[in-house]
Amino acid sequence: MGPDAYRVAGLEQALADLEHSVTDIGDVSADATNVPDHDHLFALPDCIGWTTALTRAAHNTAPKGLPIFMGGDHALSMGTVAGMAIHAQQIDRPLFVLWLDAHSDFHTPDSTGSGNLHGTPVAYFTGQPGFDAFPPVTAPVPTDRVGMIGLRSVDPAERARLEQDHAMLADMRSIDEHGIKVPLLAFLDRVRQANGILHVSLDVDFLDPSVAPAVGTTVPGGATEREAHLAMELLHESGLVCSLDLVELNPFLDERGRTAKLMVDLAASLLGRRIFDRPTRSF
Ligand code: ARG
Ligand code: MN
Ligand code: MN
Ligand code: MN
Repeated sequence: MGPDAYRVAGLEQALADLEHSVTDIGDVSADATNVPDHDHLFALPDCIGWTTALTRAAHNTAPKGLPIFMGGDHALSMGTVAGMAIHAQQIDRPLFVLWLDAHSDFHTPDSTGSGNLHGTPVAYFTGQPGFDAFPPVTAPVPTDRVGMIGLRSVDPAERARLEQDHAMLADMRSIDEHGIKVPLLAFLDRVRQANGILHVSLDVDFLDPSVAPAVGTTVPGGATEREAHLAMELLHESGLVCSLDLVELNPFLDERGRTAKLMVDLAASLLGRRIFDRPTRSF
């Protein structure tokens, strides 16, 4: 339902108004698999079928423009990031990933307590062990090329793993203390210095539930509408973004489409919508 909600909320027109040429290639269908159901991992066979289909969709579309992957469960990033990483390898540039999310989604199939695979994509595409049932990741993204901003719900097993690696972690306290610009520009500098390209994964629950209620995993104390727009505008100015996930929208939980519309507006800011150019006289 997520992709259709974005269509109804006018994503295509919003980007066309910015003079982008936009092609909606329609819904991807999951590949068939013969993996059996798992007693703890929810919808494992479906998730594997989606991962192979989305890996292919990502690396096939990446050379043609800036793909926007609409979802849907955050498990879709297993495929979108794996596919973008293959593309990055082909053009010989390192792929970086910006994870805008309340959660770190850094569980492995062995550590997840809920069994929900939306809690595992970062562990998958960074090549952590435990994903034997899944398609092998041919181009893993090293954890020191992952930046997470907006964190406020991290489970103990994820925390233990994150403390050992080198992802850039900006929790809500960092945003309270420094604003969102400081950690974001620091991460973008690293991407630029490495001549990298940047995949952005925007989970609805990055935002505060008061402005974005349409997600099953709301966590209070999230990014404001203004912080989110500033982040999108800075990402646009960086010129580094190669692809975008819009994930975890559940239109069933929305209020008159306000979350879908806000996500569309954020995507537009990331793709160049602005009030005035910078620098401007209207300080
Ligand atoms: N850490 C929790 C879990 O593994 C919540 C994950 C939420 N992630 C998401 N993409 N909604 O179940
Ligand atoms: Mn989900
Ligand atoms: Mn997530
Ligand atoms: Mn989340």
